[in-house]
Amino acid sequence: EWWESERRQQTPEAKAIEEAANLLRTSDLPVAFPTETVYGLGADATRSASVQGIYRAKQRPSDNPLIIHIDSLDMLERLLNAAQSSPSALKTPRIPIPPIYKPLIEWFWPGPLTIILPNPSGSELAAEVTSNLTTFGVRIPSSPLARLLIHATDRPLAAPSANASTKPSPTTAQHVYHDLKGRIELILDGGTCGVGVESTVVDGLCDPPAILRPGGIGIDELRLCPGWENVEVAYRDGTLDIKEIPRAPGMKYRHYSPKARVVLFEPDSSPAGVAKHVRKDLQDTAIGAHNIGIVRTRNWKQGLGLAPDNVLASTVVPMTAPIDHLVSFPIPVQETCSQSSRTKMAYDCYLGADAASIAHGLFAALRAFDDFEVDVIYVEGVPDREGDLAAAVMNRLRKAAGAELKV
Ligand code: TXA
Ligand code: MG
Repeated sequence: EWWESERRQQTPEAKAIEEAANLLRTSDLPVAFPTETVYGLGADATRSASVQGIYRAKQRPSDNPLIIHIDSLDMLERLLNAAQSSPSALKTPRIPIPPIYKPLIEWFWPGPLTIILPNPSGSELAAEVTSNLTTFGVRIPSSPLARLLIHATDRPLAAPSANASTKPSPTTAQHVYHDLKGRIELILDGGTCGVGVESTVVDGLCDPPAILRPGGIGIDELRLCPGWENVEVAYRDGTLDIKEIPRAPGMKYRHYSPKARVVLFEPDSSPAGVAKHVRKDLQDTAIGAHNIGIVRTRNWKQGLGLAPDNVLASTVVPMTAPIDHLVSFPIPVQETCSQSSRTKMAYDCYLGADAASIAHGLFAALRAFDDFEVDVIYVEGVPDREGDLAAAVMNRLRKAAGAELKV
């Protein structure tokens, strides 16, 4: 009703949503829109040409399936039973949502949880959405703007994160613009995403059920649901062996990588070891000037010693920063690399101490360091107690660090 009245009054917001919905229905270029996790790059999931547009814009490998976004359980029922409406399939029994998902849907939808369902025969979904798997992933986002867009389009929307493939996921419209300008026609700007990391992907079609990707809903919360007490962790952090076939195809690719090299210190590293490593690392790799980024998750006194005075023996000079808590300071040249004559900069970014605020700021921090042309980013890991967003944070960081993983 509210939407209908907005639409009648032609408010700027309603016009923007209608324009986006029209593009989604008619154009083969995808439309970027905000969700509570990260920005998505949406296309009508029932049209092959439009879904192909997503893979093209992102330069995403075509064997990596997309998540379907719906606005209601109604839309899911229609999707599961679409084949029924065709006369040849009149005898097909109604396909219910597997009961194992009932508690999850009740507790976590709308929200950052994607469930895997069997793709029914005669499915409306374009083959490109599922990369020819027999299943599809689906979620109802909690972002009202995302749900309104789906409602206005009246189609299920396939949407991966709206970054260029391999880059950190976008949490602002500016991030999307940076990666995809010239490749898409429209970005709906809904401000900064709240959660900051992608949805948790779960598979309840196997026994025991499994988590395919850690994300916005933690394992502890899942375990409280009937049937999910023994949920298995079926993802691997870090880079996968080529021979391994991950159950969520997307997990095998290089991911979340800024231009800069990422060095991740596991939270149980010793401060002395960290300091030694950083000094040696800077000496070994110092060819000309060298800018560094520091991502801290604890304060200087308690943490791994990733602090200017400890690691670099320098004074902090706070500067105006594009993201919260960003402080930068020049590193005296003689401290690190005597051959270099150019001033080096260190950018220090404190993401806060709790997993939710770290998740919220993580991708923006990695992207900001790229803007500052940082060569290497040292990151202070967090204990990834399975229960909360820390598991998702460490999963993304271990992938970003790849071979640079430090234990
Ligand atoms: O929070 C999110 O989920 C965001 C926003 C935009 O909603 N979307 C997102 O999509 O992260 P994407 O495409 O970047 O990640 C989809 C993940 C991939 O790891 C993919 O392999 C997995 O979900 N996936 C999709 N369909 C699957 C299926 N049928 N079986 C197993 N894994 C699947
Ligand atoms: Mg992605």
